[in-house]
Amino acid sequence: MSIITDDLALMLARAPIEAAIASSYLIGRGDERAADQAAVDAMRATLNTMPIKGRVVIGEGERDNAPMLYVGEEVGTGAGPELDIALDPLEGTTLTAKAKSNALSVLAIAPKGGLLHAPDTYMEKIAIGPGYPPDLVDLDEGAADNVRRLAKVKGVSPEEIGVCVLDRPRHAGIIEALRGVGARVRLIDDGDIAGVIDCTKPETGIDMYLGQGGAPEGVLASAALKCVGGQFQGRLVIRNDEERARARAAGIEDLKRRYMLDDLVSKDAIFIAVGVTPGSLLQGVRIGGGAIHVNAVVMNSATHTVTELRIRQPAS
Ligand code: FBP
Repeated sequence: MSIITDDLALMLARAPIEAAIASSYLIGRGDERAADQAAVDAMRATLNTMPIKGRVVIGEGERDNAPMLYVGEEVGTGAGPELDIALDPLEGTTLTAKAKSNALSVLAIAPKGGLLHAPDTYMEKIAIGPGYPPDLVDLDEGAADNVRRLAKVKGVSPEEIGVCVLDRPRHAGIIEALRGVGARVRLIDDGDIAGVIDCTKPETGIDMYLGQGGAPEGVLASAALKCVGGQFQGRLVIRNDEERARARAAGIEDLKRRYMLDDLVSKDAIFIAVGVTPGSLLQGVRIGGGAIHVNAVVMNSATHTVTELRIRQPAS
């Protein structure tokens, strides 16, 4: 029997829930570091109460630079299943500091060896939602070609395809190509895990995610797609010797490899996201009337379960 059960998923959800609540007190206060630290402290403290033998494979950085939830850190009581843990206690630190939408607290787990140990570098990414033929889009094809392929299978014109892209100067060429073919480009300030997951939700109007974002976020987003369906391809972007060394330290030999979803998340996985600020995926944390309201989604690829949680608990 798989160790990736719904009971485990619901227990683990408490970690990003506590992280989201802790960072919510810092929404709109202009202090990214404080918001991130609050989330990290709360997630770590909560994970360490849990009966798991977890090892952080995607975390806050290397041990030297990250005093907590560093890559390689053991979390949990040690009495329980051996798990790979990928976490981003606050995905969207700037979104939180500026009280903008779509900040999340995120956690993904898989049995040991089930998640790629992605280095802290950029990753080129392409993602689409579920229900399409395998390998319909291709990271190595141009943006316009990918839009045309998707539009053809969807039975619409390229003008009806919505593509989410991080609003960065490095994406000027992609944005021009997308607009050239007629696609609608949604530019986001931050938060490409939500950007990828939006491809799975028709109501967002997003059909495809394209561009370079963090490699750790690529693995986390892939864990979500593993649960709800969809396609993802990624390739590390190595810009200098330091990043090359980081990738090698993470055990990556082929730096030019194109990763498919199952390479990034090779075993059954749990993905949990909790809204910090309101967004396309979830409502943000709300505190008022003596209560804290939290909205979370818990996904399990082993049971194909997607559970939305709306929690109301007393404010302490
Ligand atoms: P933080 O939570 O660390 O602020 O990251 C937010 C984010 O937008 C990610 O979603 C994305 O993958 C990455 O930053 C993009 O990096 P950059 O801001 O350097 O373009």
